[in-house]
Amino acid sequence: MNGLHRPSRPQPRASRPWSFSGMDYPETKKKRNFAGKILLAAVLTVLCVYILKNSSSFTTPTAFSRHETGVTHVLVTGGAGFIGSHAALRLLKDSYRVTIVLGIHLYSVSLLQDNLSRGNFGAVKVLQEQFPEPGRLQFIYADLGDPKAVNKIFRENAFDAVMHFAAVAYVGESTLDLLGELQHSKCLLLYYHNITSNTLVVLEAMAAHGVKTLIYSSTCATYGEPLKMPITEDTPQIPINPYGKAKKMAEDIILDFSKNSDMAVMILRYFNVIGSDPEGWLGEAPRPELREHGRISGACFDAALGVIPGLKVKGTDYSTADGTCIRDYIDVTDLVDAHVKALAKAQPSKVGIYNVGTGKGRSVKEFVEACKKATGVEIKVDFLERRPGDYAEVYSDPSKINRELNWTAQYTNLQESLLTAWKWQKSHQNGYRKSTSLALTY
Ligand SMILES: *[C@@H]1O[C@H](CO)[C@@H](O)[C@H](O)[C@H]1NC(C)=O
Ligand SMILES: *[C@@H]1O[C@H](CO)[C@@H](O)[C@H](O)[C@H]1NC(C)=O
Ligand SMILES: *[C@@H]1O[C@H](CO)[C@@H](O)[C@H](O)[C@H]1NC(C)=O
Repeated sequence: MNGLHRPSRPQPRASRPWSFSGMDYPETKKKRNFAGKILLAAVLTVLCVYILKNSSSFTTPTAFSRHETGVTHVLVTGGAGFIGSHAALRLLKDSYRVTIVLGIHLYSVSLLQDNLSRGNFGAVKVLQEQFPEPGRLQFIYADLGDPKAVNKIFRENAFDAVMHFAAVAYVGESTLDLLGELQHSKCLLLYYHNITSNTLVVLEAMAAHGVKTLIYSSTCATYGEPLKMPITEDTPQIPINPYGKAKKMAEDIILDFSKNSDMAVMILRYFNVIGSDPEGWLGEAPRPELREHGRISGACFDAALGVIPGLKVKGTDYSTADGTCIRDYIDVTDLVDAHVKALAKAQPSKVGIYNVGTGKGRSVKEFVEACKKATGVEIKVDFLERRPGDYAEVYSDPSKINRELNWTAQYTNLQESLLTAWKWQKSHQNGYRKSTSLALTY
């Protein structure tokens, strides 16, 4: 622009020998033209700002938004949680393309303020650091209960499969205290929203956008209190707590849906998940307010760290070998291996349902001994009365998954699994937020 139409210095026509031919407009037209240019400039500026603001999603849009031969793009819901982050890590190592959707946490709505969502971002940050190449990993924050938001994600991305981990949370077999509390609160309904109806939302979005494979996280809590051990996939499902019920309902919805669909579905029913990745990138960072209700491994580490005074073992008079409850502890590395195998073997129009456990029950006493050895701390243990609602024995029969998916638990040494998790816990006493300066002694 070489000074053409500069309004402050309207020049006589005669002095403009460089005027383009055909541009001898009358003054009013010139003004309109000028206004047009201002408008154009404004539009361009807005566009520039828009593009800049969205530049992060503009750098790698195509990789995630189109299908690519030889690359399987997996949507991992809850991919910042304990199990989801481990699954994402494994998928990335195996050259899958991964999109993580991190939901707003189960309890964050009103029950408890969620301060650990930042901690959860820690897992995503670790994954991003390990896999920075464009087109490998992207991360989207969304409420899975919001069909509009979920549909947008499916519209803008080309997924080949979904692993639905969201809402598995920390609510497992050993959290009956918390479940008891929730039962007396209006927040109970959150279970059904966040487990059952979120599953429905994801399922509908998958159907609407032609995503063909679903790997669903379910739980042995859907079996309730079976009369016969070990638990097979044919053991009747009679869940006794809201968590188990919500998961069972979600399973039923998926099964009904799949009857009239060519979707490939794998439902994995987890037993008690422990451990963390052997390389020490990821770990379990439960939110502080859930710790005391949480899983036995968390309690054991808290006791070893002195965060809590000791362990309380509830019930020593069960009809088991040493009188304490028996559970089936599955290492998270084995669990995510089951997911990857399930994904590889998923067949259109078929539903596969599998228990994921070791098939070997361990007593709470055994667990505590393994924890003492792994941590090297002589943890104080109080033996208390039974807790209502705890059942004596829960362990899986994993022969179906052995047979059909060629999956077998490899990390079956309780003490070693706990040692791996302990190393991470010891060096991440504030979760992912900031590593402490404590040196590892192992
Ligand atoms: C749980 O459900 C409520 C209500 O639908 C929703 O606001 C919240 O974001 C959900 N949380 C998750 C983790 O999806
Ligand atoms: C969450 O963190 C903020 C500051 O980071 C703090 O003021 C607040 O008390 C915390 N809430 C809970 C429930 O821990
Ligand atoms: C089953 O898995 C093992 C390793 O765990 C492998 O050596 C074997 O080849 C697999 N069998 C089949 C049929 O894929």
